[in-house]
Amino acid sequence: MAVVVWAPAKVNLFLQITGDRPDGYHELKMLMQAVSLADRLTLSWRDDGEIVIACNDPQVPTNGRNLAYQAVLLLRERFPMLAERGLHIDIAKQIPVAGGLAGGSGNGAAVLWGLNAMAQLGLTAQALADLALKLGSDVPFCLLGGTAIARGRGEQLTPLTDFPLLHLVIAKPKATVVSTAWAYQTFRSQRLLDQPPPDLAERWHRVLTGGRVEVIGANLYNDLERVVLPHYPAIAELKKQLASQSLGALMSGSGACVFAICADSQHAQNLAQAIASPSVSAWAVHTVGHGCRLEEFP
Ligand code: C5P
Repeated sequence: MAVVVWAPAKVNLFLQITGDRPDGYHELKMLMQAVSLADRLTLSWRDDGEIVIACNDPQVPTNGRNLAYQAVLLLRERFPMLAERGLHIDIAKQIPVAGGLAGGSGNGAAVLWGLNAMAQLGLTAQALADLALKLGSDVPFCLLGGTAIARGRGEQLTPLTDFPLLHLVIAKPKATVVSTAWAYQTFRSQRLLDQPPPDLAERWHRVLTGGRVEVIGANLYNDLERVVLPHYPAIAELKKQLASQSLGALMSGSGACVFAICADSQHAQNLAQAIASPSVSAWAVHTVGHGCRLEEFP
């Protein structure tokens, strides 16, 4: 018996750091959006008790550093009988690694989702979300997907069901990798929280309620750009190029991916083709109203 789970990538249409926390994390106010670029995970039982991960992308760790692996361990803690069986996890990766698209987080979420179904664990959405947060701040959103306001560490989620469909281009400088922990720590050490841009409340309001694609594109915001763009000229240059040919561009999460809002699907296809090069990967995508999904369940 095998279960196939699709795990969509996310972009942050808005990411504001509103405070630092004693536990080292930050208080956030974000607008999270799931997109059609997705990884496909196939879970199947093994007879030998081992957890084995295989992935088509050699950059992905196949050991205990992989959130998919950690998700199995978390469920085994809660359901010791799961350890009697091994699990094979095949990850067909399309989401770029360390891109700010929650690719790793999505794989952890997919294993929670898939194993819950496969082993008939009966965990509620809330119980899954609580486990997800133990894996990482973005993992609860990866389970839920769609469009959501996220607060706290990123786990206090309010779904938005009537957000407009968007066509986007996501692009990444192939050679650039940004550490999320470094980005947040640098934001903190530079005391950027003390100097917020003046019009943030207005921009947040416009992105949430503007409705029109042009208004959303013109009001995107990400606080982490303030530390990442000056340090990574390749990301800053890519953002400039995308912004000049779209309705608005923004770095996602801590980078290195940048996304651009397009007028329609044709615009996104054309822009993705125009921006792709030997040093830049690019994908034309659209927003989706879901998170992790089972493809089949025999
Ligand atoms: O939760 P996760 O392990 O994915 O976070 C990666 C890093 O991002 C953390 O180690 C922390 O440095 C930073 N982070 C933060 N505040 C958040 C989320 C993440 O400072 N709300």
